[in-house]
Amino acid sequence: MKRALITGITGQDGSHLADLLLSKDYEVHGIRRRASTFNTSRIDHIYVDPHEEDARLFLHYGDMSDGSQLARVIREIEPDEVYNLAAQSHVGVSFFQPEYTGDIDALGVVRLLEAIRKAEVETKLYQAGTSEMFGDSPPPQSEDTRFRPRSPYAAAKVYAYWMVANYREAYDMFAANGILFNHEGERRGETFATRKITQAVAKIVAGKQDALYMGNLDAVRDWGYAGDYVKAMWMMLQADEADDFVIGTGESHSVRDFCAMAFDHVGLDWDRFVLTDPIYFRPTDVEYLQADPSKARGKLGWVPETTFEELVHLMVEYDLSAEGMTLDEARTKAASL
Ligand code: NAP
Ligand code: GDD
Repeated sequence: MKRALITGITGQDGSHLADLLLSKDYEVHGIRRRASTFNTSRIDHIYVDPHEEDARLFLHYGDMSDGSQLARVIREIEPDEVYNLAAQSHVGVSFFQPEYTGDIDALGVVRLLEAIRKAEVETKLYQAGTSEMFGDSPPPQSEDTRFRPRSPYAAAKVYAYWMVANYREAYDMFAANGILFNHEGERRGETFATRKITQAVAKIVAGKQDALYMGNLDAVRDWGYAGDYVKAMWMMLQADEADDFVIGTGESHSVRDFCAMAFDHVGLDWDRFVLTDPIYFRPTDVEYLQADPSKARGKLGWVPETTFEELVHLMVEYDLSAEGMTLDEARTKAASL
């Protein structure tokens, strides 16, 4: 049985990856932060008491700021694969917390690399890089596109990217950078643009919200489904040699397009409800991201399975169900708004 360690297991991607690895018969270990409220809602469906004989999911307290604990967990578990998904992952927030973001997203990766190197275990590492690293480099962006980061988050991820590349070369470590474009879904954090929109659609139809305040509607993103993207992470660690891969759909849409499709799914016209508020604009934003995922298709055989329309619809329908409505009921209610 293979053993994997996932940092950030309580996040969107960590939870999808844990689902995937458990379905492949891995023993899965995850690092969770101590919090005064429960932060495990995304993995509650797979959690079993570790005393159970068939338990294959185990959680360990830890933090990317705490190198000694990372080292202890790695020494104890001796994982075959480590997926580093933990991060302060909100680009907008990184402008308010640049130092913290650098500590966790950049130096945290060095702590992990050092923990693996010093434990002297045969471990493959996946590092969660991001299309944000391309910043204002023109689309389409591939593995050869120059990094021009436009936020503290992106700058921290660029540092992490190069540290992973350096440890691969310097210490012959199997360490791969995934350069993932935006991926969303029903488990997406509620302050990211897509989820904020789909939740607002549901709450507006439910009569709990009147308007949706957004920032830059012109920004263009290459949006895919998170469940498809964690398969690419796993595939990268099954390859014969460690390499870096761009993962995206190759198709892009604006935030405005996303709003239009989400509201239209319940029969509403988005521009009756969407307003802008300057607090949601970033000091510098990334205007246009579109992946050229041909290397991943050619070398890993990875292709996205969910279309943009399917993604928007599944998110809207999930948020409607959280408000106790079917799509048909929502459309009927929306007709009277
Ligand atoms: P997410 O939902 O925000 O999850 C982030 C995870 O990191 C959570 O489990 C969080 O724990 C954990 N975390 C945050 N700070 C930590 C710390 N100091 N120590 C330990 N754990 C910490 O993000 P995601 O969308 O799943 O993204 C996963 C990774 O991929 C991130 O590194 C992100 O930067 C990167 N990425 C994401 C996308 C995307 O579109 N989703 C695209 C490219 C790259 P809590 O649950 O306790 O907050
Ligand atoms: N969050 C948010 N909230 N974004 C908004 C809003 C709003 O009210 N209004 C407009 N936007 C715009 C942002 O300015 C940005 O241009 C775009 O919508 C997408 O914002 P997010 O959904 O916050 O995602 P992101 O692209 O900044 O970052 C996500 O994708 C990266 C990969 O490219 C995150 O998941 C990062 O962790 C990830 O690396």
